[in-house]
Amino acid sequence: MANEPGLFISFEGGEGAGKSTQIRRLADWLRSRGFDVLTTREPGGSPGAEAVRHVLLSGAAENYGVRMEAVLFAAARSDHVEQVIRPALKRGVIVLCDRFMDSSRVYQGVTGNLEPEFIESLERVAVNGTVPDCTIIFDIPASIGLERARKRADAAAGSLPVEPDRFEREKIDTHEKRREAFLEIAYNEPERCRVVDAQRSEEQIAGDVRDIVEPLLGAVTPAAAPHTETVQ
Ligand code: TYD
Repeated sequence: MANEPGLFISFEGGEGAGKSTQIRRLADWLRSRGFDVLTTREPGGSPGAEAVRHVLLSGAAENYGVRMEAVLFAAARSDHVEQVIRPALKRGVIVLCDRFMDSSRVYQGVTGNLEPEFIESLERVAVNGTVPDCTIIFDIPASIGLERARKRADAAAGSLPVEPDRFEREKIDTHEKRREAFLEIAYNEPERCRVVDAQRSEEQIAGDVRDIVEPLLGAVTPAAAPHTETVQ
């Protein structure tokens, strides 16, 4: 594994695919087996990147164009990698990251219509060699995912309906295009990427995720005294 002694796993997919529930379940399972686990997310995951997250998700940067947004996502990613992800991997931690570079390829690159060379250059600078050992892509039809995301947000807010964020507001065919783009990444990089059918039960999906991760654990040493860090 490229990130030894740690292990770096990213989780990708459209809105409402159930990534955060599955990350939580996987983290609990790994911790119960004595591994040191860090769960984190993008955009965000470090103080600097969390500051940029607000600018991006509120839509404050939208008027300045998708190129500006792409650079801001990359700035946040660079800080997150340097301050949090790489140091954790060096300590032998298993890092579970909710979205990473593939979200920029898909949201800003494919559906933002930015040139692949521009996205590739930003990616190279932002990840600076720290590429996930494994990327699990949660695949779900856009209409089902968006419906789930909306229900979840409303439930979290009580009786008041919640405004969708900058990216959730986009049209259904844009979300479908993103789904296709994630599948294409998986097709082109079969060694790094695995696709999970996210329409099935939470239990079945958790089983798939464990089956994907278990063979990767050989190179990771369980912590002497496991601790349970979470950055969100
Ligand atoms: P978040 O509330 O974290 O949503 P989710 O549960 O869908 O992960 O919002 C993150 C949003 O930012 C999401 O719509 C995807 C988008 N995004 C990008 O457009 N590019 C990126 O590089 C990343 C990391 C996220």
